[in-house]
Amino acid sequence: MSNQKLIGPSILTADFLYLGSEIQKLEAAKVDYIHLDIMDGQFVPNISFGLPIVQAISQVTELPLDVHLMIETPEAYIAAFAEAGADTLTIHVEATTHTHRVLSQIREHGMQAGIALCPGTPLAAIEELIPIVDQILVMSVNPGFGGQTFIPTTLAKIRRLRALVDGASSPIRIQVDGGIKSSNIGRVVGAGADSFVVGSSVFDANGNVAANVAVLREAIAAASA
Ligand code: DX5
Ligand code: ZN
Repeated sequence: MSNQKLIGPSILTADFLYLGSEIQKLEAAKVDYIHLDIMDGQFVPNISFGLPIVQAISQVTELPLDVHLMIETPEAYIAAFAEAGADTLTIHVEATTHTHRVLSQIREHGMQAGIALCPGTPLAAIEELIPIVDQILVMSVNPGFGGQTFIPTTLAKIRRLRALVDGASSPIRIQVDGGIKSSNIGRVVGAGADSFVVGSSVFDANGNVAANVAVLREAIAAASA
């Protein structure tokens, strides 16, 4: 298990009119990656943004782009997201039938492969995929919107996944997404996660992205000590 804890802000609650300067704020805050939430209005009841935004961001940053596809039939868009500059492409286990094939295709396109589970989906749904993924995304809210409340039963799920992943032959990141704040991130660390998606607690009303990231890093350090 790697000790490095990664912070990846989601731009879902950033100011889209000034996206370039929002990305610069993330660079200045020295985040580990940028999390991009793609929603199709079918898999989730919301529509966010798509390929042109991913491509535009990839042209102005060296930060890894972690793309979270909340879309049906993700297999139809693998090549397009690779071309747009995605470094990691995460699909939902609930969104397509042949997940094993789709994850292999993601790697064939030179990206890291991630598999995500909704809160109601048991770990058994992804167990057979562990040997072929780089990260497993445990959703701690029902996907579709930023600013929701962390679902506490997620902690036990992360603990069980940690045990499964520690038994795997290759390193796999456990990523958690939804409702993470400085007040609860310590418990998520304690459960065994190592990559943290944070949206509304980074892009909040005060607009001080670097300070918000620093507070999260301190909470992670306190929980890891
Ligand atoms: C939810 C998205 C998350 C979310 C994170 O569907 O996948 O990335 O926007 O935002 P917060 O941290 O506000 O829950
Ligand atoms: Zn997400």
